Parts: sequence; C-alpha cells; structure tokens
Amino acid sequence: MKGLIAAHSGLRYIVLALLVIAIFNAIANLKSNKYEKKDKMINLFAMIFIHIQLLLGLVLYFISPKVQFVKETMSEPILRFYTVEHILLMVIAIIFITLGRKKAEKQAEPAKRHKMILRYYGLGLLIIFIAIPWPFIYNVGAGYF
Ligand code: HEM
Repeated sequence: MKGLIAAHSGLRYIVLALLVIAIFNAIANLKSNKYEKKDKMINLFAMIFIHIQLLLGLVLYFISPKVQFVKETMSEPILRFYTVEHILLMVIAIIFITLGRKKAEKQAEPAKRHKMILRYYGLGLLIIFIAIPWPFIYNVGAGYF
C-alpha cells in the first residue's frame, strides 16, 4: 500500500511534465502543416502515463482508508476529497484527454490536430492540476512526494 501511494504520488510529476511537453509541442506546431511521428509519440506517451496513473488510482480507491462510503463521507474533508472530488475530477480530465487525442488523430489537417491537442490536453492539465492534493490548496494530509 505504501509503495503504491509513493508510486501514485511520484507519478504526478511525470504526468504533469508529459502534458506540459505535449501542450508546448502543440503550440510550437500550430501553424505547421506537418503532424509527424514524434508528435504522435509525444501525445501518445502522455496519454499512456495518465492511464497508468488511472490504474494505480483505481487500485488505491479500493484499498485506501481515505475512501469510505459512510455517513460522514461528505462532512469529513479527507474522506470527501478522496472518495468524491479527486476521483471525479481526475476521471473527467482523463476522458477529455483520451477523447481529445482520438479526435485529433482523426483530423485531416495537421494544424487542426495540434489545435485539438492544445485544447483538450490543456483543459485536462488544468483539471488534473486542480484535483491534485497539493498541500498549498488542500488540507488532506498529502505532501509533495
Ligand atoms: C492524473 C491523475 C491523478 C493524479 C495526478 C493523482 C495524484 C494523487 C496524489 C498526488 C495523491 C496523494 C498521494 C500522497 O498522499 O502522497 C493521490 C492520492 C490518491 N489518489 Fe490520485 N491521482 C490521480 C488519479 C486518481 C484516480 C483516477 C483515482 C481513483 C480512481 C485516484 C485515487 C487516489 C486515492 C484513493 C488516493 C489516496 C491514497 C491514500 O493516501 O490512501 N487518483 N493521488
């Protein structure tokens, strides 16, 4: 359980970094008329790591004592955060990113592909950032690592 939490916690930085790289890559290529293998790989890699994070999160959801369906779930901040808020926002963000990538790959024009990635990965990044239990936003007992 401890190792799993450490992996899930550390992976946040890899997920955030990969999303930032994909977004910058999309911005840099907004006016380009090429969507190359490297672009595809950057976007795919970000999505794969987000799905790994989703899997770790799902396992934690079933074993964590911070996830409980009891009378106090909504009134107790830590229980509410992990049982409801964290999973809900993360799943929404992951759906956005997954659909966005699918939509981007379907576009015929390369510039439109980059634009789609920018839009969906950008929104996904924003939601993920907000839903991370940063100690400077939430008082739910999580740290930076
Ligand atoms: C990109 C997506 C996600 C990121 C970046 C993320 C990040 C984090 C972070 C930083 C923590 C705090 C770990 C600590 O205490 O040090 C955490 C805890 C947790 N996450 Fe996520 N998470 C994501 C998605 C999910 C999803 C989709 C689920 C559920 C399906 C989930 C379930 C949990 C649970 C249950 C905990 C509490 C573990 C515990 O301390 O007992 N996470 N997450």
